[in-house]
Formats: sequence, C-alpha cells, structure tokens
Amino acid sequence: MLELNTVESGYGETQVLHGLSLKAQAGRVLAILGRNGAGKSTTLKTIMGLLPLKSGAIAFDGKPIERQPFRVAHDGIAYVPETRDIFPSLTVRENLEIAEARFRGRGGGDWTMARVLDLFPRLGERLDNGGTQLSGGEQQMLAIARALLMNPRLLILDEPTEGLAPIIVRLIHDKLQELRQGGLSMIVVEQNFGFATSLADDVAVVSRGQVVWAGDPAGIRGDTQAQARWLGV
Ligand SMILES: Nc1ncnc2c1ncn2[C@@H]1O[C@H](COP(=O)(O)OP(=O)(O)OP(=O)(O)O)[C@@H](O)[C@H]1O
Ligand SMILES: [Mg+2]
Repeated sequence: MLELNTVESGYGETQVLHGLSLKAQAGRVLAILGRNGAGKSTTLKTIMGLLPLKSGAIAFDGKPIERQPFRVAHDGIAYVPETRDIFPSLTVRENLEIAEARFRGRGGGDWTMARVLDLFPRLGERLDNGGTQLSGGEQQMLAIARALLMNPRLLILDEPTEGLAPIIVRLIHDKLQELRQGGLSMIVVEQNFGFATSLADDVAVVSRGQVVWAGDPAGIRGDTQAQARWLGV
C-alpha cells in the first residue's frame, strides 16, 4: 500500500534519513520503533510531503506520492502529528465539523460525526469545550476523530500515547485495536514498546535514519539483542 525505497530527507542541510526503506501493507498495522532522534517523525513528515524528498521514492498504491500535504490527505492518508494540532480557538464540535465538511464522501471509509462520537463518547460530552480546555487524552481522541473524518485509507499516528496517563493509554490502545479489526491500515510510531507490539502486525526499527530491523511483534519481543541495541528496552 505504501512503500518507501531508499529515502533520503532532512531539514535544510541536515540530512536525517539515509536510505530508509519500508513497506506498510493494506489492512495491517505497521509499528515504527526507535530511540529518540532516530528519524521516526522525520519519516512521517517526509511521507506527508511536509519535508522534501531529497532522493529515493515513496509510492502509495503503486504511484509516486504527491509532495504537498493537502494532496496526500486527499489521496487518503490521514496524519496525527506528535503535537496533535488541535485548533485551540475552536470547540471540539468545530474542530470535527471542519474535517467532516472538507472530506465528506471522500476516500475509503464512511466516517461521520455520529460515528466518531460513538467511538469516543467522551468527545460527545465535550462538544462545546474549546480545544485548550481538553485534557491530553481528550486532545488525542479529538485528533484521531478528526483524522478519521477524513475517511483515510491509511491512518498515520506519531506517538499517540506520549504524555498520557496509563488508563488513557489503555483506552487509546483499545480504540486503535477496534479500528484495526475494522480493517483500517495504520502506521504507528511509538516509544511505548508494549503498546506498539501488542497493536502491530509488522514492526520496523529505525536507527540513524535507516530501518535496521524488520519483522513481526513476536520477533522483536524475542530479540533482546536488537532491543538493547536499537531500542534501549
Ligand atoms: N526542525 C528540525 N530541524 C533540524 N533538525 C531536526 C528538526 N527536527 C528534528 N531534527 C533532527 O532530526 C533527527 C531526527 O529527529 P526525529 O524528530 O525524526 O526523531 P524521532 O525518531 O521522531 O525521535 P523522538 O522519539 O524523540 O520523537 C534528530 O537528530 C533531530 O535533532
Ligand atoms: Mg518523533
């Protein structure tokens, strides 16, 4: 579904990705793991067209991916950044309505406001609250809900559990598991090893801008050497 082939990318003169290759397959969850600064977020930003592709190729459904974020979104990839990017001056309802209006009838899913509120009832209780009045967990729920309203064929999440209390991490895990069982393709970048390996079908470990290990969750759980070397678990 999404394939990166020897991708080089970075920030201005600073190259961060050094020939990174990986594949995300339809109907599966790919977890991207790696230490701080390994290049995980840079990989996602390069996929989304937020950073230029210096060399290599990225294909989505066999075609070269667009290099502008709104075009990537319209082609069916929704991205929840680490920063979540909730519109702080808008209410929960307004944040959701914007996504619903822009992406209605597009892409692979049939997500509606009613359906995302069914998935996250908590958001239904917060509809008139401003984005800044939400807890970290509620902001993450809103960011995921908004991404789903884009009716993506591929959902990309950058550290969805960062800074959240264990009970909320559990809730986010169960919701993503529900989406996975519904057949949604996902890429999840995570520092939380247990969270990532219990959710994923496939695992890629990134170090210094390259994929240094690829396999499945059982493989990485059983490979304590790889864990020590590249994850510091
Ligand atoms: N805006 C930027 N300008 C220059 N360098 C950057 C920028 N953002 C990140 N970097 C550098 O790129 C490298 C990879 O960063 P990246 O954010 O991709 O790491 P990461 O794997 O997502 O780490 P983390 O787990 O901490 O989020 C790091 O060395 C970082 O310092
Ligand atoms: Mg990051």
